[in-house]
Amino acid sequence: MKVLLTGAAGQLGEALIACTPAGVSLTACSRAELDLADPQACRAAVFTHQPDWVLNAGAYTAVDKAESEPELAQAVNAGAPAAFAEALAETGGRLLQVSTDFVFNGAQGSPYKPHQALDPLGAYGSTKAAGEAAALQLPGARVLRTSWVYGPVGHNFCRTMLRLHSEREQLGVVADQVGCPTSTATLAMACWRAMGLGLDAAAEAALPCILHWSDAGAASWYDFAVAIGELGVQIGLLDNAARVMPLTTADYPTPAQRPSYSLLDCSGSRAALGLEPMHWRAALAEVLPLTVVARS
Ligand SMILES: NC(=O)c1ccc[n+]([C@@H]2O[C@H](COP(=O)([O-])OP(=O)(O)OC[C@H]3O[C@@H](n4cnc5c(N)ncnc54)[C@H](OP(=O)(O)O)[C@@H]3O)[C@@H](O)[C@H]2O)c1
Repeated sequence: MKVLLTGAAGQLGEALIACTPAGVSLTACSRAELDLADPQACRAAVFTHQPDWVLNAGAYTAVDKAESEPELAQAVNAGAPAAFAEALAETGGRLLQVSTDFVFNGAQGSPYKPHQALDPLGAYGSTKAAGEAAALQLPGARVLRTSWVYGPVGHNFCRTMLRLHSEREQLGVVADQVGCPTSTATLAMACWRAMGLGLDAAAEAALPCILHWSDAGAASWYDFAVAIGELGVQIGLLDNAARVMPLTTADYPTPAQRPSYSLLDCSGSRAALGLEPMHWRAALAEVLPLTVVARS
């Protein structure tokens, strides 16, 4: 199977490359090889490589900055999947579009099912929602939504918290936004499965076009920060953990509004993908030993 991967230098891209299944011929594109803001280049990449699947893991992911750069966020997050879908319709390939819990407004207070109505609160979520719609124009395309992604490399909350734990005695973290941390390692496995790798033909054909994947359980950013400190000390990555103080969203204003409760209901998707979820704390315990503490 020929797969064209975007966002190859991102945290998910790195994890996808690391666990590429046997039998996959992977063309991995980072920004230098393919500018996702250039629809012509996106179409050309499909015509050149003729992939069976485009795995679109690249995205404009700066949630707050997107509020002041909505056109660029839209070009990358919606324009690229639209261009891929258009070209793949001609070549006969398929598209896996990675998306986000931030397409929901967080108001319902219970986990979101895949086919619920979208209502993003900010520019990032709006552009990702537009990207989903564009991707799904292509028959056979799939959208895989995930949440609170972190891994041993790249820009993520876990690495930032490790740095802050190592530098400070005390830190404040928002405690009234609930979601689920998701390791790039488990997410990468789910992405490969979402393209049918490791499934028989009947199971592949039965996969729905919108899938949800996160690690298991629920957490606030505060819970996640506390766990990073505790486990970081346990494995000797940190000498001490900072005291984490719970903040409200109002205490910590940001340019983009975030959903207060964005848990994804992954039950149907997990069964369809044939993957057992790992609790987010167990996944964190596997990621931390591999993590290099970010320095400011
Ligand atoms: N991070 C999260 O918490 C989270 C949560 C839910 C869903 N997601 C989704 O998961 C997917 C993977 O995200 P991630 O966490 O791996 O993000 P990431 O680490 O920020 O990686 C995104 C990659 O996209 C690349 N990119 C951005 N603009 C580009 C452009 N114009 N042309 C080419 N490449 C471009 C970036 O390149 P540079 O390295 O050159 O900047 C980066 O390598 C995305 O679809 C994201 O929306 C992420």
